[in-house]
Amino acid sequence: RLLIIDFGSQVTQLIARRLRELNVYCEIHPYQRVTDAFLQEMAPRAIIFSGGPDSVMREGSPRPPQAAYDLGVPILGICYGQQVMMQDLGGRVEAGEHATAEFGRAYVTATGVESDLLTGWFDDGTREQVWMSHGDHVSEIAPGFEVLGTSPGAPFAITADRARRFYAVQFHPEVHHTPNGARLYENFVRLAGFTGDWTMGAYREEAIAKIRAQVGDRRVICGLSGGVDSSVAAVLIHEAIGDQLTCVFVDHGLLRQNEAEEVVTMFRDHYNIPLIHADESDLFLGELYGVSDPETKRKIIGRLFIDVFQKHANAIEGAEFLAQGTLYPDVIESVSFSGGPSVTIKSHHNVGGLPEKMGLRLVEPLRELFKDEVRALGRKLGLPQSFIGRHPFPGPGLAIRCPGEITREKLAILRRADAVFIDQIRRHGLYDEIWQAFVAILPVRTVGVMGDGRTYDFACALRAVTSVDGMTADYYPFSHDFLGETATRIINEVKGINRVTYDITSKPPGTIEWE
Ligand code: XMP
Repeated sequence: RLLIIDFGSQVTQLIARRLRELNVYCEIHPYQRVTDAFLQEMAPRAIIFSGGPDSVMREGSPRPPQAAYDLGVPILGICYGQQVMMQDLGGRVEAGEHATAEFGRAYVTATGVESDLLTGWFDDGTREQVWMSHGDHVSEIAPGFEVLGTSPGAPFAITADRARRFYAVQFHPEVHHTPNGARLYENFVRLAGFTGDWTMGAYREEAIAKIRAQVGDRRVICGLSGGVDSSVAAVLIHEAIGDQLTCVFVDHGLLRQNEAEEVVTMFRDHYNIPLIHADESDLFLGELYGVSDPETKRKIIGRLFIDVFQKHANAIEGAEFLAQGTLYPDVIESVSFSGGPSVTIKSHHNVGGLPEKMGLRLVEPLRELFKDEVRALGRKLGLPQSFIGRHPFPGPGLAIRCPGEITREKLAILRRADAVFIDQIRRHGLYDEIWQAFVAILPVRTVGVMGDGRTYDFACALRAVTSVDGMTADYYPFSHDFLGETATRIINEVKGINRVTYDITSKPPGTIEWE
């Protein structure tokens, strides 16, 4: 496997992403954790030094251990990782001045020195576009290194010690703005001897072994939300430890049509996983009664969720672990630069604070994975595609799709309208093209005419967006026929709605949810 030493760059996780796309197994570890003993134990086949925000000129700035260079394995240093490597091996780094700092697009050209690292680069003598983001820069390369590529702002843009197989680049090959960057990673892992045979099947076996080693014969509780992440985590853990796992499914009464039944049937009947279905809708809806402020709603739901989960979990005797479907993007490992080996980890928001409160240790078998990798793992575990491909659904559920006061009447109308909209999308074969689609019921009644009568019913808004990660989003360009047909169906099939609108706001400035 490959070790990525994290020096705190914002884009370190993208390096892992590029490597997994090459079917190479890698692990990211913060630099503080990477000691000589750690390296001995892990015995990586190659190492990547990430970028980072610090300056190697600063006394006490982050370093890899000397042992990293002594292992005899290929190393690739990126940005800060290049500077650290050069300084450690006898080169020089100069502090950033305005004239030499570089942020943004730059072009690297070949110097003519050949290297396996450059296969597919500079092929027709052209320059390659790269993304630079550095204050300091290397001013003198270390003995044994040669320059393979150069840019106006970074004379040592690509450097290599071919004998020792140490490579270092000033730019970030992992970001999209370096369009051919994946090729550099591919070349690096090939010359390190990786064949690209790592698969989700292998991950599953490794994860199961790790869970068994961590848990032993003790008991684990898993909070199941019905979403893909917690479901995949639950099925994986069940495969590892069987009935030592109990799932708790908190039903806050804010789920979509048939959702609770589907979750219970799938886990209890299909997978035979011990499952507590905590139907607490009266409690949640009671506390939410009369509340219309969005933040207050979220706080109430978050607080009750923890209370309810804790109540049911306490009834499970001898549980020592809490399982969570935390994904890599949920994990912010902020590397502390003020000294000290502390690593702050942000836990999954839905059960934040629970493990400490309950004195439970965490089992997080998906911590290293991205969303699409979790889906691939779910497929390996036999979860149905219709389930795995489901759109994200927020923890607070329909509460944040019901602006204003939440009533059982409005929720019932919302559920029916939402089901029609999703059915329309599936019928037209659009479900997988859309990141997320739902209906919001608006806190306003409007006048309509149906048959010979006047109606005075709720208006609703359809929302459908495309997105890569939920951080930005565009509204989905449905045809007018589709929209017209959907509006007709909702008004005909859902009593209580007489007006349908389509929300065409992008994010930003809008958010995906209405609250
Ligand atoms: P927004 O509305 O902020 O949503 O554009 C971005 C993505 O996050 C989901 N979302 C949540 N998910 N708990 C969750 O688990 C929450 O409190 C929450 N709020 C928003 C939203 O559905 C979208 O996918």
